[in-house]
Amino acid sequence: MSHVPELEKIPADVVNLADYTTHARERLDDNAWAYFSGAAADELTLQANRTAWDQLHLYPRVLRALTGGHTRQTLLGRTLDHPILLAPVAFQRMAHPDGELGTAYAAAAQGAGLVLSTQASTSLEHIAQAILKDEGRGPLWFQLYLQHDKVFTQELVQRAEAAGYEALVVTVDAPASGARDRERRANFKLPPGISAVNLAGLPNPPTASLSPGQSTMFDGLLTTAPTWSDIAWLQSITRLPILLKGILHEDDARQAAQLGVAGLIVSNHGGRTLDTAIPTAWALPRIAQAVGPDLPLLVDGGIRRGTDVLKAIALGAHAVLIGRPYVHALATAGALGVAHVIRLLRDELEIAMALTGCATLQGITPAVLFQRP
Ligand code: GLV
Repeated sequence: MSHVPELEKIPADVVNLADYTTHARERLDDNAWAYFSGAAADELTLQANRTAWDQLHLYPRVLRALTGGHTRQTLLGRTLDHPILLAPVAFQRMAHPDGELGTAYAAAAQGAGLVLSTQASTSLEHIAQAILKDEGRGPLWFQLYLQHDKVFTQELVQRAEAAGYEALVVTVDAPASGARDRERRANFKLPPGISAVNLAGLPNPPTASLSPGQSTMFDGLLTTAPTWSDIAWLQSITRLPILLKGILHEDDARQAAQLGVAGLIVSNHGGRTLDTAIPTAWALPRIAQAVGPDLPLLVDGGIRRGTDVLKAIALGAHAVLIGRPYVHALATAGALGVAHVIRLLRDELEIAMALTGCATLQGITPAVLFQRP
């Protein structure tokens, strides 16, 4: 019998996603806070992601008939009630004892897609078992970091397939972690009892045997870092659709499309890898134009408001992912907080649609964005 998370209370003063951040700061210790809220280096991309959405202004239309409207979207052959997914975030038991399980129950209850991290602190089988049979749930995808050991990677993929995951989300923007200043200042360490349990048994990485004069990057990590040919290899060993996450450049998007991937996630890893990389709101329309309207395109990075979701759809996204907001909600109120965050964002999206005269996501076009003369 799996553990069913207890419901906690939503603080009375929470009315939007950002409010959960204030509460999470009070509840998380400096170690967990640095990991979940920090980003790379000067955190300029973290800020730029937000600013870029804010700087897009909406051009509302009035008096349109909106009866029969909805937020449904089709993604990889499934109809979703709304276009909000939970991005992969590692080590969620560091945010709350229920960790990924609380997140999964909340996602399923709210019909939100869930992307489980390779670095989850709960077993991938346990999460799938908990929600797979829930008819109202959204898509269940597994985020894959291609490991230096191909046999291990293949076994991990087979486990995800056997457990019932419906797609693989391969993160491609992190052959190395970013320069995580905030984590280093906090002397970040995983607390005892929390680990990447799905990677148990992974042989040592090449960095383990380097001599002092060698580069941990060029003589270590990058000797086995994934390349395009590994994506083709992955396609050859799995029946699951593959999405690439961490695409910012339209030429990479074209190359991925040519390989026949099932979708792309425009992402800069929430500003956690390359600082000063462009905000995702800038990358999205260029990539949408490069790959055309048929390739499923998702975006994350700084989505905090229903208006941000609407803007993302207007720029060519089919769906969006959120990361920090739901982890902050998990830290504050467990599964209930995560469910609340999804509902808040969905409600705000519906308000934004009503006030811009868009009855459906398909009706949200670039015309809702004001082009300054
Ligand atoms: C892992 O992907 C991280 O961003 O810490």
